[in-house]
Amino acid sequence: MLQIAPRKLARMVPEAAELDRFETASRAELAEWQREKLRETLHHAYAHVPHYRAAFDAAGVHPGDFRDLPDLARFPFTAKADLRANYPFGMFAVPREEVARIHASSGTTGKPTVVGYTKADIDTWADVVARSIRAAGGRPGMLVHVAYGYGLFTGGLGAHYGAERLGCTVIPMSGGMTERQVQLIQDFKPDIIMVTPSYMLAILDEFRRQGLDPRASSLKVGIFGAEPWTNAMRSEIEEAFDLHAVDIYGLSEVMGPGVASECVETKDGLHVWEDHFYPEIVDPRTGAVLPDGEEGELVFTSLTKQAMPVIRYRTRDLTRLLPGTARAMRRMEKITGRSDDMMIVRGVNVFPSQIEEKILTIPALSAHYQVVLAREGRMDTMTIRVEARPEADAADLREAAADRLCHAVKDTIGITATVEVLPPGGIERSLGKARRVIDWRPRE
Ligand code: DLL
Repeated sequence: MLQIAPRKLARMVPEAAELDRFETASRAELAEWQREKLRETLHHAYAHVPHYRAAFDAAGVHPGDFRDLPDLARFPFTAKADLRANYPFGMFAVPREEVARIHASSGTTGKPTVVGYTKADIDTWADVVARSIRAAGGRPGMLVHVAYGYGLFTGGLGAHYGAERLGCTVIPMSGGMTERQVQLIQDFKPDIIMVTPSYMLAILDEFRRQGLDPRASSLKVGIFGAEPWTNAMRSEIEEAFDLHAVDIYGLSEVMGPGVASECVETKDGLHVWEDHFYPEIVDPRTGAVLPDGEEGELVFTSLTKQAMPVIRYRTRDLTRLLPGTARAMRRMEKITGRSDDMMIVRGVNVFPSQIEEKILTIPALSAHYQVVLAREGRMDTMTIRVEARPEADAADLREAAADRLCHAVKDTIGITATVEVLPPGGIERSLGKARRVIDWRPRE
């Protein structure tokens, strides 16, 4: 069991009086609100976005057909390709002049995906991020170090507005300049850090490089997201920094960070802020809606967005919906991967997170890793490149660790992989989202 110093546990769980009205609403009250807001959103999208009008008409549905929550399944999905096809501002449901902010995410190919927010949308966003920070243990007056990137990426500004909304003091550090990150953590003594889990590991290395004890830092809570990370990685970071590591989820198309978030007292998956984002799980192949508890692709419909409502947006993220625990709102299980992250190696489906879990069972290995796929003749090859921990950086220990990982992957995932254990610092560091998979295989 993880040992966290008692000084870091004081008053983290919010009292009932600190929660907002939807955090304490019953399921019935929530469903009533969702029905009303879904109806409004469907009408708003149909009336103001030509893409939705055409898509609804083609599917033979009209917003008037929506009476109850299951009726949503009759409406067509929206995909990233629809946003690209309407680049840059074609998905906006309000005149461009009413859009207060633009963000964009760069995909691996082609044009970026552009999203827009009215002033009211920015307000909603700040509210859900503030709620997420509070659920993680944040309180007014705390210092929050934001190391998500600022700019077109939603991470930095999303976290920033939320922390301000909660009444915190924000340090808008953004990503990069790792030495400076550590200096400011030492000097300003933030209570909370918001950053990608992979960049937190780079910050950890820098603490050690400077001969500082990360467990002695002021940090009590880390709010990590923007990329998949396992519970094994959670333990790793909690242990190293003596803090609570809490998961935050979101995507630009739906809002940004703060679509769902974990509560510090349970850390058992992310409560979807269902008063603003209506989740469904669908079979990724057929599109059929699956019951709660079954794993599939997460789909979101926005309930309150003005500038860019999204109807049944396919996230490509794989998870399942579970009943609420710390809050009545449903949880989504920690994301195991994206359907487009899934590697098919010699016919076997494998996610980077499965490999991460195996790596972190081996004490000599650190959580810095990459998977390289290539093809020799007709055969796919997988090479796992992973760093040794500084204390295990000797040729014989590295070789033994490589051997162990190779067997663990073979025995549990069923793939023969080549494992290269590199000295510390051997894997390229990301300043934001880590690049876990490099696929050199020729495209068919
Ligand atoms: O990554 C928003 C964000 C910023 C979330 C900061 C949390 C913290 P995008 O760049 O549009 O937005 O990427 C969205 O990132 O569909 C997931 O695949 C992945 N993702 C985001 N949060 C998590 C998480 C931001 N907690 C895509 N766990 C999503 C796993 C995540 N994957």
